[in-house]
Amino acid sequence: MSTALACWRAAEDHAAQPLDFSRAPVAVRVAQVSRIFSGNSVLDRLDLTIRSGEFVALLGASGSGKTTLLRILAGLDAPDGGEAGVPEARTVVFQEPRLVQSKTVWKNVVIGLPREQASRARAVAALAEVGLDHRADAWPATLSGGEAQRAALARALVREPKLLLLDEPFAALDALTRLRMQRLIGDLCQTHGPATLLVTHDVEEAILLADRILVLQAGHIGFDTRVPLPHPRRAGGEAFDTLRDRLLAELGVPQSE
Ligand SMILES: Nc1ncnc2c1ncn2[C@@H]1O[C@H](COP(=O)(O)OP(=O)(O)O)[C@@H](O)[C@H]1O
Ligand SMILES: [Mg+2]
Repeated sequence: MSTALACWRAAEDHAAQPLDFSRAPVAVRVAQVSRIFSGNSVLDRLDLTIRSGEFVALLGASGSGKTTLLRILAGLDAPDGGEAGVPEARTVVFQEPRLVQSKTVWKNVVIGLPREQASRARAVAALAEVGLDHRADAWPATLSGGEAQRAALARALVREPKLLLLDEPFAALDALTRLRMQRLIGDLCQTHGPATLLVTHDVEEAILLADRILVLQAGHIGFDTRVPLPHPRRAGGEAFDTLRDRLLAELGVPQSE
């Protein structure tokens, strides 16, 4: 995290107010991006700006195009129209950890880094941040689901990304591990300060973690709101419930009350 951003965040945290990113530098600028699959318009002239240090959650019905947008931001897919301006230093964590089974955990963490940067010490330092340095020499097959996903997170952070893309990274984890991972991601994003885009279908998870929440509707960002809650957050309370109900309504889930 840059010193300026860190100080600014610390000052805001001290005030225990939700963060205002309107003056932070732009990290992601998506302009009129479209993506068409077999004649189906999945993304339709989508606009989106994310600022440095901002944690944005992206909600949307299954098949609404969340992964398609994330893959374009990651550079794994190209839009059919429009432009996506993203930082060079960006990494993705997917739902499954995608570790190379024939390499030990620490080698997985520094995989693909230039040889002079791919040291064991660097890998172990990243693993320590996710509480997994004691498994540095383990084989991926011996890790639990939560440990494997923490290794994937260490692999992302060791690259010091300016943009961290997370595609439902907790979806395959049990409820308790999921809670721990949510806390860990929240803490790490505060420490490292990348712009973060978290794709999730979990409305409460979005409210607990994000500075801003988007809903993908009909191929573009149909709803965009700041989260008016200071950190640390807990589920429940009037503001939390009001926002949850609004988001569920935007997602087309009728409320019983
Ligand atoms: N490579 C592809 N080829 C054809 N159709 C695709 C491809 N990738 C995604 N789609 C389609 O685009 C739509 C959006 O997919 P996706 O972005 O994965 O949705 P989400 O992540 O929101 O569930 C779906 O209808 C999906 O079938
Ligand atoms: Mg998806």
